[in-house]
Amino acid sequence: MAELALQAQGLRKSYGSGETAVAVLKGLDLAVSAGEFVAVLGPSGCGKSTLLNVLGLMDVPDTGEIFFRGRPTAGLPEEERSLLRNEALGFIFQFDSLLPEFTILENVMMPARVAIASGRSRETLLQARERAMAFLRGLNLVSLQGRFPAQTSGGERQRAALCRALINRPALLLADELTGNLDRKNGERVFQDLKDLAREHGTAVVMVTHNEAACRWASRTVHMSDGLIFEGAAPA
Ligand SMILES: Nc1ncnc2c1ncn2[C@@H]1O[C@H](COP(=O)(O)OP(=O)(O)OP(=O)(O)O)[C@@H](O)[C@H]1O
Ligand SMILES: [Mg+2]
Repeated sequence: MAELALQAQGLRKSYGSGETAVAVLKGLDLAVSAGEFVAVLGPSGCGKSTLLNVLGLMDVPDTGEIFFRGRPTAGLPEEERSLLRNEALGFIFQFDSLLPEFTILENVMMPARVAIASGRSRETLLQARERAMAFLRGLNLVSLQGRFPAQTSGGERQRAALCRALINRPALLLADELTGNLDRKNGERVFQDLKDLAREHGTAVVMVTHNEAACRWASRTVHMSDGLIFEGAAPA
């Protein structure tokens, strides 16, 4: 059996407290193997972004546990959580997350720059730049490298965000509603790239979406409903 890249057990998460508390995750389990591309399909408001924030260590669950490659993450000090985020995780957020005051190329290089600056990467900035350019080339963004995010389209920004998510060769890539800003041609390209990446590098991909068509690229589709994940069809 392939190594488990991610294992989430019994995740619970509510917003607010007391009478007005809204339970969003209700004891959710999810396991993803290295090299697997899992699509989590569910309607708007069912908690997909909440789930990704928790899986990506940007938010903490009320209860439940998340393991990366078998290592528990509960109780890790913030410093180690952010180290894990920088080194092992890649994110593509639902809404724009590029830094507006940096160019497209600078945005893509940012995670590599952080790893180099902290001494955890032996790569030179020049090498990181070459790799960043290769990603940009692959997604047709070379001509935009010097532009600021505000000078590009939503789809271009999302492709740049994908390059940035990949630059540190993450073990786990989390993608939120990737299809939203992509036209058909670029969408197919991005999904093909994600699929190849998962297969070739053993990267685990978790993509959440409400778009059934996007799921055909995944190696497995699960359904999210009432705060839980179901293999196969969700119960009516
Ligand atoms: N900070 C918050 N405080 C209170 N409620 C919240 C907060 N964030 C999200 N919610 C609520 O939690 C539920 C899940 O939100 P979430 O953003 O995870 O849904 P989603 O599945 O990603 O939706 P979409 O497909 O529209 O992006 C929604 O009912 C939302 O209104
Ligand atoms: Mg969402």
